[in-house]
Amino acid sequence: MRVIVSGAAGFIGSHMCDRLLKEGHTVVGVDNLLTGSLDNLTHLRSISAFQFIAQDVTQGFDAAAMGVAVDAVVHMASAASPKDYLAHPIETLDVGSAGTRNMLELARAHGARFLITSTSECYGDPLVHPQVETYWGNVNPVGPRSCYDESKRYAEALTMAYHRTHGVRTNIARIFNTYGPRMKLYDGRVVPAFLDQALRGEPLTVFGDGSQTRSFCYVSDMVEGLYRLMFSNERYPVNLGNPQEMTILEFAERIVKLTHSASTIVREPLPEDDPKQRKPDIAKANRILGWEPTVPLEDGLQHTADYFRRKGTAAAD
Ligand SMILES: NC(=O)c1ccc[n+]([C@@H]2O[C@H](COP(=O)([O-])OP(=O)(O)OC[C@H]3O[C@@H](n4cnc5c(N)ncnc54)[C@H](O)[C@@H]3O)[C@@H](O)[C@H]2O)c1
Repeated sequence: MRVIVSGAAGFIGSHMCDRLLKEGHTVVGVDNLLTGSLDNLTHLRSISAFQFIAQDVTQGFDAAAMGVAVDAVVHMASAASPKDYLAHPIETLDVGSAGTRNMLELARAHGARFLITSTSECYGDPLVHPQVETYWGNVNPVGPRSCYDESKRYAEALTMAYHRTHGVRTNIARIFNTYGPRMKLYDGRVVPAFLDQALRGEPLTVFGDGSQTRSFCYVSDMVEGLYRLMFSNERYPVNLGNPQEMTILEFAERIVKLTHSASTIVREPLPEDDPKQRKPDIAKANRILGWEPTVPLEDGLQHTADYFRRKGTAAAD
């Protein structure tokens, strides 16, 4: 298959390109490098089945530039970390709306499959726990995070409309917190933030009392779920994430232990609209894709810490 991947230079997008190439597909990566980096694709430079196009997907683009054959479109472009989307709220809304429209049009024009990476943020600060796909969410539509949450909710609605109106074979993944190598160290997400602080021996910053919960999925598990989903006939959203839930305080303590760090823990006020609980119900993914995460947290964190050490955090200096 010839697959167009938007957001290819990002954290998950670059791993998705690796996986598609490994499976023998030809990949065209598209990215405007707003939050991603070409460093994530350096290892693919000499692979003839991979091509990179620097392109903002919110701008109308020439479908012909994507080549004559497009069998699948994987739309992953979007700022994704709170730090990034709070810094680029309008670009984030644009990529979920105009960007998604352009990518859907590309899929429609070629009769290609289409997969979008949506998010657990669609559930907002959830009143149902764990979050199941049939829950419609508790989102503040005008809070600071709304640029991301509503962008993705709109993108999901647009995707369903293209399926219903044009019969595009669409899939919607609702991704929960994912971590692993190629995350940016300073994007404000909890895994790189804690690992960086622990590796430097600095105090780990826990927001609020640390009783809010999260669950963390290693990137290879996530890519496996996305790859299976892109060939499925399920049109409604499917949660992908790791259901192993823990408090942020407990998570901070595990990182300190894993990295053999002398770091202490400091507390700062909770950001606005920070979700109190996050845990995916993955029964649907398990049923229709036969998927569940397999990488233990300690192993995934070790790979990620090794990556940050190699990249050269202060601790590795
Ligand atoms: N990482 C997570 O935990 C997580 C959780 C939920 C959902 N997701 C979703 O998964 C996808 C990938 O997230 P990520 O963590 O790899 O983020 P990332 O920021 O590392 O990657 C996103 C990529 O999209 C690119 N991009 C943004 N706007 C663009 C535009 N207009 N045109 C072209 N490229 C553009 C960025 O430059 C970047 O390379 C996103 O759609 C995100 O919403 C991620």
